[in-house]
Amino acid sequence: MPFGEVVDLALYDPVHGFYATGGAGRRADFITSPEVGPLYGAVIARGLDAWWRELDEPDPFFLIDAGAGRGALAASVLDAAPDCAAALRYVMVERSGELRDLQGDLLPVVEPRFVFGAGTSAVDDGEDMATGKLLEGTGPIVTALEDLPAIAVVGVVLANELLDNLSFSLLEYTEDGWAEVMVGIEEGELVEVLVPASDHLVRGIGELVEGPRPGDRVPVQGEARKWLIAALEVIERGRVVVIDYCDRTASLAARPQREWLRTYRAHSRGSDPLQDLGDQDITCEVAYDQLSRVREADAVRTQAAFLRDHGIEQLVSDGRQVWLDRAHLGDLAALKARSRTFEAEALLDEAGLGGFLVLEWVVGPGRA
Ligand SMILES: C[S@@+](CC[C@H](N)C(=O)[O-])C[C@H]1O[C@@H](n2cnc3c(N)ncnc32)[C@H](O)[C@@H]1O
Repeated sequence: MPFGEVVDLALYDPVHGFYATGGAGRRADFITSPEVGPLYGAVIARGLDAWWRELDEPDPFFLIDAGAGRGALAASVLDAAPDCAAALRYVMVERSGELRDLQGDLLPVVEPRFVFGAGTSAVDDGEDMATGKLLEGTGPIVTALEDLPAIAVVGVVLANELLDNLSFSLLEYTEDGWAEVMVGIEEGELVEVLVPASDHLVRGIGELVEGPRPGDRVPVQGEARKWLIAALEVIERGRVVVIDYCDRTASLAARPQREWLRTYRAHSRGSDPLQDLGDQDITCEVAYDQLSRVREADAVRTQAAFLRDHGIEQLVSDGRQVWLDRAHLGDLAALKARSRTFEAEALLDEAGLGGFLVLEWVVGPGRA
């Protein structure tokens, strides 16, 4: 079986997969930016307003939160009350039914027809959603889907730490050229088996990794590329924003696999990816030069730069002022304001979350 298929089952099998059984998803195993606290969502809300204004304040204006998990980002974006709120249709797209079930605890989730309107079919199941009515100025309205909507919208597709969780093929360079890493069973144990890689898999990798040495390994992220193609199709006007830990394919080839193909469990590194299947998160750094084969991103910057460009420092200094004014009350508003300082430290840390890359593709008029 191809390595990526094993990864897909380990993560998403409806009964035994990590995201079906973990309940809280990655939250319990390691912290993503939205799980650090509400500050991240507050900055994204400022970004949303900037993008909404760039598009001349469309109503409705969609935010498709791809890989939304239990809805932490959605809750903090809405809590920040962006100016675009009345136009906002917030669509959480989450593959795990377990996590979709939890979203209702944090958010008032309504049926998709109330977000996508009458006569449209946002879910590609052949069923026409005949009764929804799309009224301007009635947002924010929140809904949840299992997959990207099947119709194009004006707005933003945002994927925070989604692409690193999509399955991929694994190649190893050998004396005979590139081989694909497959998984077999030997004496009851899962073992790696190398087979000659198909031309289809190798295509494009040669250009990205010059002069590979035997033993070098790279992921081939076909699922991530397919996702990007689909996300670009969902946007009629607006942008696709991908936030993740990224590297170039050649750099991944030069690094040991255990550095970029990681497992996490209970806040620390887990075991070999082929062990403890379903009990640990399996994640692969995103080879973002492979995404360029779909389309070159219009903007690439670190998460720290992106958050600064969208005003994180202003939010932290506002928080400091609120803390000074309300510290004697010690109420929730005071504590929330104070926690912004600590959240910003984690979000901007270039050795951690701040070093992630934010890749943006602009769609429609206004494209750079
Ligand atoms: C690492 S979590 C990130 C969750 C959230 N975005 C965050 O930053 O906290 C990745 C999420 O993507 C979901 N996922 C994986 N493949 C997906 C797909 N094709 N469409 C939608 N969600 C997917 C997983 O179930 C998981 O909840």
